[in-house]
Amino acid sequence: MVDYHTHLLPDMDDGVRSVEESLAALSALKRLGFRHVVLSPHFYTNREPADAFIARREDRYARIARAVDSGEGGSYPQLHLGAEVYLTSLLFNTADLRPLTVDGGDCMLTELPYDDKLKDSTLRNLERLCYSEGITPVLAHIERYPYLLDPSLLGELFDMGCRAQVNINPLSWGTKRKLKKLLSKGFVFALGTDTHIGGGLYDRVSKGLSSVNNALGTGYVKAAGAYTKENLI
Ligand SMILES: [Fe+2]
Repeated sequence: MVDYHTHLLPDMDDGVRSVEESLAALSALKRLGFRHVVLSPHFYTNREPADAFIARREDRYARIARAVDSGEGGSYPQLHLGAEVYLTSLLFNTADLRPLTVDGGDCMLTELPYDDKLKDSTLRNLERLCYSEGITPVLAHIERYPYLLDPSLLGELFDMGCRAQVNINPLSWGTKRKLKKLLSKGFVFALGTDTHIGGGLYDRVSKGLSSVNNALGTGYVKAAGAYTKENLI
């Protein structure tokens, strides 16, 4: 499995605080069956220049990289560097967006503003990412945005080139029903734990996995991440 969304770089954002907590969480994810984990710290385009964010991310990554690389018997998943990019027009002040994508590829985990509908300004920013920048926005935790679970709007966004990510959390009955419907219509999702805290991670993610397995099917969940047209990783 691929965990496409985590906050496991130590002392980087509102996620884990220490190297020890980070390594314990990564080890727990490996035991849960995640072979790949994307490290996706919050990047708030309205708070920090991208250069400063990337320099901090490199520094935090270096703190865990040696331990992870020397992990005995493959105790840790393979790590991928990315960011959860909060989408505002300020993002386009960044000369090079690729360091903000997953492994410098085409896919950018993109957090939309929490509006009650897709605002024109957000749509324009998504269009700019897709059409001008050649980037695939992977919309973070779409289940938090009721309007994104509408097949016709999500269809337009997929046609534009967007993809979507769902959090591995206990889901409400209504959300499960909507996700099942989207899946039956051919939509695909990356999955992520959105882990911020190491404590209790194993039990928490186990519960989330059973809920998501129930909504999307065990086979889907095991293979998610390889389901998009160009693979997310
Ligand atoms: Fe997140």
